[in-house]
Amino acid sequence: MSGNVLTMLLAGEDTTANTLAWTLHLLWTNPAALARAADEVHRVCGDSPVPTLDQIAQLDYVEACTHEAMRLKPVAPQTGIEALRDTTLGDVHIPKGMVVIGVMRRDATSERHMPHPTAFEPERWRGDAAPAASSARRVSMPFGAGPRICPGRYLAGDEDGAGGASGALRVASVATVDGLPPRELLQLAMAPVGLTMKLHERERAGFDAA
Ligand code: HEM
Repeated sequence: MSGNVLTMLLAGEDTTANTLAWTLHLLWTNPAALARAADEVHRVCGDSPVPTLDQIAQLDYVEACTHEAMRLKPVAPQTGIEALRDTTLGDVHIPKGMVVIGVMRRDATSERHMPHPTAFEPERWRGDAAPAASSARRVSMPFGAGPRICPGRYLAGDEDGAGGASGALRVASVATVDGLPPRELLQLAMAPVGLTMKLHERERAGFDAA
């Protein structure tokens, strides 16, 4: 029981928090996407101070921004998998007991799978860009896959949806001390180093971002 609680706390906190940090950083450096996200939040949520779960479910563009941030900045960029029996993947033999490290970002940022793979383009996840969206979905697996896929992925979606919605309206600035893009530091989760953020009071933000 204590092991499960610890896993939930360790696996559930830094992952969602750092995903939100990366998302707001990427939105800040892509003003057109930030404006579109703010516009959607304003339209769906109106004046409600905290989005409800029903409202979060309607924030398709904000969700696409989170997907795109997780594609470019997966907070779990490597997963370890141990073979339970001798197996073969492609033409590689993997004996029982061998640990295989899954490198999650390689295909997710390869131009073999999508156009402009290093660009932040949330539109690739939207229905109106279906071919690119389905391609992005197949190659980007920030929550892992198979029987051990992250059980917290829907909770994470709601948390990052709520945080992204609030952030899209209120973000006043996102910066690093040296003005360079934030460095990636992989501890438990991959965090942006030295990222600072200022938020407006919600009442002052309105459509400022647009
Ligand atoms: C953006 C947020 C999150 C990301 C990117 C993420 C990612 C992952 C990944 C990649 C795995 C390994 C999956 C695999 O081995 O195939 C995992 C496992 C796990 N995650 Fe998450 N996670 C997130 C949020 C959460 C939350 C909110 C919780 C719970 C409150 C949670 C609980 C767990 C647990 C318990 C496991 C271990 C599952 C197992 O070994 O069977 N995660 N997560």
